[in-house]
Amino acid sequence: MAYRIAIIVGSLREGSINRKVARSICGLRNDNLDCSMIEIGDLPLYNQDLDSSPPEQWVRFREQVGAADGVLFCSPEYNRGVPGVLKNAIDVGSRPYGQSVFDKKPAAIVTASPGSIGGFGANHQIRQAAVFLNMPVMQQPEAYLGHVGDDSFDEAGCLKEGPLKELITVLAHAFHDWVHMIHESRRLLAEDSAHAAKAKAHA
Ligand SMILES: Cc1cc2nc3c(=O)[nH]c(=O)nc-3n(C[C@H](O)[C@H](O)[C@H](O)COP(=O)(O)O)c2cc1C
Repeated sequence: MAYRIAIIVGSLREGSINRKVARSICGLRNDNLDCSMIEIGDLPLYNQDLDSSPPEQWVRFREQVGAADGVLFCSPEYNRGVPGVLKNAIDVGSRPYGQSVFDKKPAAIVTASPGSIGGFGANHQIRQAAVFLNMPVMQQPEAYLGHVGDDSFDEAGCLKEGPLKELITVLAHAFHDWVHMIHESRRLLAEDSAHAAKAKAHA
């Protein structure tokens, strides 16, 4: 079964390597993940005063993420942290309080950089937010993709054959298994509770 995955890219740059990594994940012949890239560049800055009449872009974003079975973050690191545009999207999706569209959604985090530490700082800041957002985040494989540049991609903008593409392929399959495990466990738990409730009613 194909799970709907909302991919949120933390870079607005047209030639973004993180967008290309995300595109490569979408392009993998993986019938199990139905990926959509969610636009975040047009989201007005989060302002709690607007919660009662939210801008249409917030509504659209919340609906798109809300409809997904899982979320994949692909982001650069800015100044050892999460780019503001991604943090804004996370804040927009997390509110109004108690109505977060991220709640309980399985997630994975990929960070890519031309630098050698592969956006480790940003990766873990996203993880930190995900703890509060109650998102079960896949632990392995970790994806701090270092030394990624334009030459890592072919003319179509997809990852060239090699170790990086191999890692991303493993990650995409592991993410499918993660999303499946979370949804399947919840389904079984709900079934168990329904059986228990029926048994109690007949007792
Ligand atoms: C404002 C800014 C801050 C940056 N800070 C970092 C950083 O902390 N660590 C890092 O590895 N690269 C940093 N970089 C370099 C980015 O990794 C590089 O520009 C990368 O290509 C951005 O990702 P993108 O191609 O997906 O837009 C920074 C770039 C910018 C524009």
